[in-house]
Amino acid sequence: MSKRHSQNAGPIIIAIGLLLFATGCKETDRGRTGVDAYSSFVTEGGDINFPADFPNGYVFIGSWAVDSSDGVADIHSVYTRPVDVSNFKETGKFLDGAVLVKEVSGTLGATHTTGNAFWAHETKTWFLMIKDSKQRFPSNPLWGDGWGWARFDPDTKKQISTNYKADCLGCHIPAKQSDWVYTYAYPVLGPNGQATIPKDAVMGGRAEEDTPGHSGVIVGQGAGSDAAAGKVAFGVNCAGCHSVTTGGAAVGPSLAGVVGRKAGTSPGYAYSPAMSNSEVIWTPENIAKHIEKPKELIPGNRMGNLFPRGVQDAKQRGDIVAYLQTVR
Ligand code: HEC
Ligand code: HEC
Repeated sequence: MSKRHSQNAGPIIIAIGLLLFATGCKETDRGRTGVDAYSSFVTEGGDINFPADFPNGYVFIGSWAVDSSDGVADIHSVYTRPVDVSNFKETGKFLDGAVLVKEVSGTLGATHTTGNAFWAHETKTWFLMIKDSKQRFPSNPLWGDGWGWARFDPDTKKQISTNYKADCLGCHIPAKQSDWVYTYAYPVLGPNGQATIPKDAVMGGRAEEDTPGHSGVIVGQGAGSDAAAGKVAFGVNCAGCHSVTTGGAAVGPSLAGVVGRKAGTSPGYAYSPAMSNSEVIWTPENIAKHIEKPKELIPGNRMGNLFPRGVQDAKQRGDIVAYLQTVR
């Protein structure tokens, strides 16, 4: 008798289980439930809104000060969620749903009891990355390489980026190894984040001008570089082949906005394969190297043959780079 009982109970329990499972699926299929569970500020189609509660629910993890000849040009403050910090410390990764927000602020500065001190003033923009390990939005151009990528207007807080490959990725290539995030600047993430500190990082941020073999983290970054002198030197050395107006291709590509750009990407210019296949990012340092020895940084590029002597004076290279930082 008791044996028959237990034989019958099995199928009933399984049936109830299936019923619950089926209702569960229906809920999710209704649409938003799944996305809501992923993120409260990502829409069904993958559009990214400004997180309504920010900065509530976020923790500050670090900041960047961007150098300029006048002092500190911008302060970047980076935030994430407490859970993302603990997950990263544990696993060395940002897990699905992790959020990073970078707030870019202009500065004011004055003499203080600590010296010349600068503080974040008005917000210029916000950048946001949200981790997506499931490729949720394959056809939305804000998503790819494991993240959703967004940028917000400072006044309206509307999302203003259109394509992460064009708007973001090139500049994050140096951080590709650490899932596109410059983790070494955020000590609270622990030792897992510190593995990728750049070899040329310098205490205090500025290299000594004449360290042998060090062609200069300092180029174009203050330390005596002078954009006005650079404009003149550019006229003498570069203007024959390069314009600084957008789309103004000549013998060489337009150099408008070149600082921070990936090599070989100025629209409307037919690059050599060497230049267009290069992964070089035009950081101030790379531009200085390229114009010191135009054949070397990107072997086989056409400027190497057209302008082999380059610019031999270090101060002049720094000035030219400082000037290029002003042509946007
Ligand atoms: C001109 C180059 C450049 C562009 C363009 C750019 N970034 Fe970045 N981004 C950086 C650099 C360099 C850092 C770290 C240093 C800093 O902020 O100065 C950074 C930091 C960040 C951070 C903080 C987390 C981290 O990686 O350290 C976020 C978030 C971010 N960027 C998102 C974006 C998004 C989204 C876009 C596109 C809409 C974008 N960025 C476009 C260069 C760039
Ligand atoms: C005689 C012509 C010539 C002169 C002079 C010259 N360049 Fe170039 N430059 C080129 C050409 C051509 C290219 C494209 C190379 C290729 O596609 O391989 C180039 C490419 C570049 C690039 C890469 C741009 C990009 O969009 O990827 C930079 C940066 C650059 N030049 C900077 C300079 C600077 C700064 C000077 C002056 C110090 C200078 N060049 C002088 C011809 C010249």
